[in-house]
Amino acid sequence: MDKFVIRGGNPLLGTIRVGGAKNAALPCIAAALLTDEPVILENIPQVRDIETTRKLLTAMGAEVELGYGRAQHRTTISCRNLASPEASYELVKTMRASTLVLGPLVARCGRARVSLPGGCAIGARPIDLHIKGLERLGAKITQDHGYVEASAERLKGGEIVFDKITVTGTEDLLMAATLAEGETIMQNCAREPEVEDLANLLIKMGAQIEGAGTSTIRIKGVNKLHGAKHAIIPDRIEAATFIIAGALTGGDLNVVGCDPQHLGALLRKLEETGVKTKQTADSVRVMGDNPLKAADIVTEEYPGFPTDAQAQYMALTTQAEGTSIITENIFENRFMHAQELVRMGANIKIEGRRAIVRGKSPLSGAAVLASDLRASASLVLAALVADGETIIDRVYHIDRGYENIEEKLRGVGAQIRRIGEILPKKAAVRA
Ligand code: EPZ
Repeated sequence: MDKFVIRGGNPLLGTIRVGGAKNAALPCIAAALLTDEPVILENIPQVRDIETTRKLLTAMGAEVELGYGRAQHRTTISCRNLASPEASYELVKTMRASTLVLGPLVARCGRARVSLPGGCAIGARPIDLHIKGLERLGAKITQDHGYVEASAERLKGGEIVFDKITVTGTEDLLMAATLAEGETIMQNCAREPEVEDLANLLIKMGAQIEGAGTSTIRIKGVNKLHGAKHAIIPDRIEAATFIIAGALTGGDLNVVGCDPQHLGALLRKLEETGVKTKQTADSVRVMGDNPLKAADIVTEEYPGFPTDAQAQYMALTTQAEGTSIITENIFENRFMHAQELVRMGANIKIEGRRAIVRGKSPLSGAAVLASDLRASASLVLAALVADGETIIDRVYHIDRGYENIEEKLRGVGAQIRRIGEILPKKAAVRA
């Protein structure tokens, strides 16, 4: 398994570019299942989760070509004939977002067999709200042997009120409703920019949708959707990660290719900690020359402070003067990074959903273990300011959602390199 070796102490200086949003690309790729015509997506990040999704759709009979070379961030998906509308446990267990194929498959093929995702490092991650929503649209659902089977001659529009705000639940049912008969009204929807980006693609494909990005979405079902071309929005969490890196290392970093409109909660919070930033329409310049001050956060659904930036923010608070209280409201087990930060010298106490961080504590490099995607990012950030060398194991977690993060960080002065698995050399074959 690959590792990162990072030597801390360098301020990040210069320009770093943000890629396409993984969490918009995943539902947009799933949306291609809704039509037998090609869907072309631009600004697709080259990360593991996209590769997993490619495998998932290919296994169903779709043709998914990922562009390389100049067109390397483009994918063309053709779902002319879907031989088996299934998502196997082997793939779903590696990526929970595979459940995003459930709604599109039932809507397009009249049936779907998708492995239940099971839990993951950050929580139980149930999909009961996806299932309840599909039942509201007339799908017949059975669950056995770890799979959920859904079927419907044709889904019927209806009223859905989500008990809890769910991002992929909103996306799954939004896609299902586009081909249902009649109108669907969904309330208490997720308002994340990624939901809106998916709706924009679906509208280009001929769907009739109003209100995406707000908590009430109306969909008028149509009989057929056609192909389309769409560019994925920038990744606001990758942008947040780099902005925090610039602040934490006391650098002067220009984060380009992002959308500051999607970063309001983070930018307001960073102001509170004394970090100066300057925004343009597609960039955020962060200047970390002020000493950092403690500031509390509570993670909330969008537009609140994003749970996906909580771990990265925790790394920042270890270097802020004072006590910061971090409340994680979305997932029940999303403090795995805390113990690794403590091993590097941070002062963090976990009390249920709250982490109490007392700073400023000098960090020292150590051998640490990545546990999930955003926890890994948090360890990279801590290593950038730690004294000495940090070795982060299991960086495949970070490869799920960050494209070439070590090259991007090296490009702005970080001392980071990837060491692959030193495989035993194959014995020379005797001639
Ligand atoms: C999406 O996950 C993101 N993933 C996550 O990003 C992100 O952390 C999360 O939204 C919250 O913003 C993708 O978009 C692919 P939820 P999702 O359904 O949709 C509970 C990353 O790091 N819930 O909004 O799975 C659930 O347990 C990943 O990129 C139910 O109870 O999250 C959680 O407590 C990690 N029943 C809360 O709702 C359901 O049927 C929010 O989950 C569904 C969810």
